[in-house]
Order: sequence, then C-alpha cells, then structure tokens
Amino acid sequence: MAYPTISCISIFFLLSLSITPSTSTCISESPPIPTPWPHQFHSILVMNKSGILQLIDLWYDWPNGRNFNIIQDQLGKLLYDLEWNNGTSFFYTLDASKKCRSAQLSVGILRPNWLDGATYIGQQHVDGFLCNVWEKAEFITYYEDIVTKRPVHWLFYTELLM
Ligand SMILES: *[C@@H]1O[C@H](CO)[C@@H](O)[C@H](O)[C@H]1NC(C)=O
Ligand SMILES: *[C@@H]1O[C@H](CO)[C@@H](O)[C@H](O)[C@H]1NC(C)=O
Repeated sequence: MAYPTISCISIFFLLSLSITPSTSTCISESPPIPTPWPHQFHSILVMNKSGILQLIDLWYDWPNGRNFNIIQDQLGKLLYDLEWNNGTSFFYTLDASKKCRSAQLSVGILRPNWLDGATYIGQQHVDGFLCNVWEKAEFITYYEDIVTKRPVHWLFYTELLM
C-alpha cells in the first residue's frame, strides 16, 4: 500500500520577545480565537522536520514586508533565509563558500492575522504550558499559551520537497 510522503514539521517557540498579551474581553459563549501576531517581533524557534533539528532566529517584520529566518542546522551550516512579501526569498550563507540562491513563491509572508478562521479544538498541555489549540485548513495545528497568549508550538504537515 502506498502512502503519500509527508514530512511532519513541529516548531517550538522558545522565546517570543515582544508579543504582549492582548487585553481581550471575555465572551463566554464563543470559542477563543488565536491572538494576531504583533507586526514586528523576534522569536527563537526549535524546528523538528521529521527528526532533523534546526534552531531558527525569526525576525518577523510585517510593515517592511519581510521575514528573516537565520537557520542553524545541528552540527551544520548557518543559512540565512530572507523572505519578502512579493514572494521572493533569498537563501545564502556567509561562510567561506558564500552560496546563494533565490526562490519565487506565489504567496508572500504570513499576515499577522493568518490564523483567522481557524477551528478551535480545545485545550492541551504542550511543553509545560496549558494551551488553546486550533486547526487551520487541515494542515496546521497551532498551540497558544492561555496565560500569555504567545504561540508555544505548531505542527504542520507538508509534502516532502526533497
Ligand atoms: C522529532 O520528530 C520525530 C518524529 O518526526 C520524533 O521521533 C523525535 O523524537 C523528535 N525529536 C525531538 C528532539 O523532539
Ligand atoms: C521583491 O522585493 C525584494 C526586496 O525589495 C527585491 O530584491 C526582489 O527583487 C523583489 N522581487 C520581485 C520579483 O520583484
């Protein structure tokens, strides 16, 4: 039996420096909605791509239409990935090899409210935090700390590109 190849990408947010908890009014009847991202922030993420671990410095900058990922592979190279909102991404290293390439995607960077319309699926403990959990478009599950409203973890499935 053939299964489609999927890679499971799991991301832990270690530190979300400038996400401030929003003051939300409590409406007891409706399910919680994901907190929109601040328009600029810095986070450190641990990414697990089907067992391949990466440490990522993420600099999200919506007003300037860019998203900068500085990706450290375990025992490996440091890769700079600068994504622009026009869909162009530049990947490069600053080591002796100074490699670079670009890619053109059909979509730009994630909007601050990219989780609008996500389906609330309840509360779960992740990594020591009690989280509200949502699913969107059947490919991402997003976990937000109930107390600070910061993302703690997300999980998504994607076709393996390599
Ligand atoms: C990474 O994900 C794989 C499953 O894809 C899992 O077996 C492994 O334990 C995870 N590693 C860490 C450090 O979380
Ligand atoms: C997208 O914007 C970046 C930054 O301004 C620029 O370097 C790149 O050439 C642009 N891409 C396209 C397709 O215009």
